[in-house]
Order: sequence, then structure tokens, then C-alpha cells
Amino acid sequence: MTLRRCDNGEVRERPPDEPRYRDALAHLGEVRSLEHLATPALVCDLDRFAHNLERMASMAAEAGVALRPHVKSHKSSYVARRQLDAGAVGLAVAKLSEAESILVALRADGNDASISTLITSPLAGEALARRAVELATRCSLLVVVDSVEGVIELARAAHGKADVGVLCDVDVGLGRTGVADVEQALRVVEEILSHPQLRFEGAQGYGGHLQHVKGRAQRRDATKRSTDRFAEVVMALESRGVTVALRTGGGTGTAAIDVELGVLNELQCGSYVFMDREYRDALGDDLEGRYEQSLFIATTVISTNQANFVTVDAGLKAMATDAGTPLVEGHDEARYGFFGDEQGFIVPGSDDDFPRGQRLMLVPPHCDPTVDRYDVMWLARGDVIEDVARVTARGCSQ
Ligand SMILES: Cc1ncc(COP(=O)(O)O)c(C=O)c1O
Repeated sequence: MTLRRCDNGEVRERPPDEPRYRDALAHLGEVRSLEHLATPALVCDLDRFAHNLERMASMAAEAGVALRPHVKSHKSSYVARRQLDAGAVGLAVAKLSEAESILVALRADGNDASISTLITSPLAGEALARRAVELATRCSLLVVVDSVEGVIELARAAHGKADVGVLCDVDVGLGRTGVADVEQALRVVEEILSHPQLRFEGAQGYGGHLQHVKGRAQRRDATKRSTDRFAEVVMALESRGVTVALRTGGGTGTAAIDVELGVLNELQCGSYVFMDREYRDALGDDLEGRYEQSLFIATTVISTNQANFVTVDAGLKAMATDAGTPLVEGHDEARYGFFGDEQGFIVPGSDDDFPRGQRLMLVPPHCDPTVDRYDVMWLARGDVIEDVARVTARGCSQ
């Protein structure tokens, strides 16, 4: 890699007051090259990232479907801002604290406070309901519920304070959350409609179990079955005069199929901005797979004393391990293995030469929980670091 001076000397992303962030920048000095990064480090390739942003945004726009990207994949106000600029109607977040953190950061950067934000997991308990209502006074908040109790908690907290938009979460086969059938959906929606401080906005049907089904035909069949379950609930509600205006769900793996099936009118895709090994393995050359790997873990070869492998400084702590091992970008034959908390080993391919100090880029096995392990994400074009983005909502899983 050659060292080049970055044109853009100034770092735009805040906040300069965070010591770890400032120190990280100071280490780079004026020459902002990937070569100078302390590793392991999270790196985003800006060109590939921009390609992914544009591809999903135009797919949704051409299909006439709204895009509400899921923040859980990136947890970064920088990425959220770019998604909104690319036409997203709002944001989806997994948890309340993720919403709070992202919205505070976006607001601090001068963005419109009323960004439409959907919490895609049901909340449990009065304390969280009160916090959600407090947030609803500051943004346009949508919350999913999947129980009558959840509706009552939210209604009590909202009474006299704010109007809250509510969606019925429908289990489309994942079995994680959501009402189990039409009868339960009717009870939950009836309860929502009985509280004037709650606005019934629609339904969510997210098929997490579908996203990584290998083979487009198989994924389409499975998605069709799940979508039929969702459509059954929607039709049951509408036949009783209840308008299900918002029908939200979908992910990177099924987005194109969801659009074909035509039941959802909003997509919640998250991973498409970065991709990962798990998605690469599942989607291959399918239409849905044509997003580029933009997220990497930069690692350094720290020891070459063994005959058959080299040791790198990225181990279990550097990435989520639920989806296996990372790939070594640009070295298809090289094989990575974990070497405990702090290190890994790489068996080089036949054409590979990995001397001590060599910088390598790993493709993370699973992007979302990997991002959550880093304070910052370095934004690079080629070898040059152009900027740095805070992982704003790191650790916000409450
Ligand atoms: C409710 C919900 N919606 C959307 C997504 C985004 O899915 P993907 O990252 O596969 O695009 C997720 C991811 O887990 C999710 O849990």
C-alpha cells in the first residue's frame, strides 16, 4: 500500500470531546492512511457503501415501496444521515435506547428532530413505556406491540402526555415476537383502537428466518408462505373496517422478493449497507446478493514464527462469532481461525506472502454484532481514510 495524503484534512463527525476518539485521530497524524491505523479496527469502504445505499434506495423507489433502514446494523448517526439523504422515510431501531442515542446524535448535528422512528421490538414494563412516551414528545415515534398488556402499558404512559403511533407485530414464522394468529391480532388491535392517545398505524411482519435461506427459489417460496400469514392478518383487519396503512418488514435477503409479492409497503433492510460473510454465503449471485462488501476489520500480522500460519491481532473480541470465521479480503485461499480473545491465525493460500506487519482486511462473519464492538468506524476510499464515524449507539441494546 502506498501512503497518500488525504485531501480532506478535517474530520467532520463529532464529538471532539470523546477522549478515545480524539486519541485515535491523533495517532493518525496528518497522513490518514489505512497503514497507520491501530488494529484491530472497523473500516468502511466509502465507494462500496455508497453503491449499496444507492442500490437499495433505487430498488425501493422504483417499486414504489418506502425504505426505513434498520439502524441495528450500523448504530451510527453518520450512516443514518446518509440513508435519510438517500430517500429513507425514517429509521427502524431495535430498542428504545438505540432510538434515543441515534436521535440525540442526529439532532446534535442539526437534523430535523421529527425523524420518523419505528421501534421494531415490543417493549415490556411501565418504565420503558414511560420512556417511549417521553421520546414520542420529541420525534415521530412508532412502536410495535404484540400483547394486550403491552398496549395497556403504553396507553397508561401516554395518557395526557403524547400521541403514540402503534403497529401490531405479527409473527410470520420466526417465532421471536408478534401475535401468533388472526384472533390475537384482532384482540391487540381492538385494544389499541380503544385508547384515543394511541394511533393505530399498521402492522409489522419481519421474517428473520428467511433472510439467509440459500437459493432464490427456496427463499422466494419460504417468503411467500410467511407473507401469506401476514396478508391473512391484514385482510382480517381490513375486512372489519380497520385500515392497515403501514405494512412494514423485510430485510436485505428478501427485499427484492418482498417487492415482487407486493404485500409490504415499507422495507426495513439493515445489512445491505455493509454485507458480511453470512449474507455472501447465502445470497451468492442472486439478485439480492448484488450488494458489495463494504465493512472490514483491519488486522495486522504480528508473528510469523510458525511454518504453516501467521498470527494476526484480531481474535474473538474483534468480531461477533455467531456466524463462523471471517474471510480474508483479496486472498480467497487464505483461511482464518480463532486463536483466543486477542489473536487469530491465518493459513496463507498458495500465492500469499504475509510478512510481519502486513495489514489484512477481514470480512466479518456477521456485521451487526461486530459493529457493536467498536467505538468508531473509519471511512476509507482506497487506502486513504477520509473520515471517521462514531458508532453512536454502541451498546444500546436496552
Ligand atoms: C425487525 C427487523 N427488521 C429488519 C432487520 C434487518 O434485516 P437485515 O439486516 O437482514 O437487512 C432486522 C435484522 O435483524 C430486524 O430484526
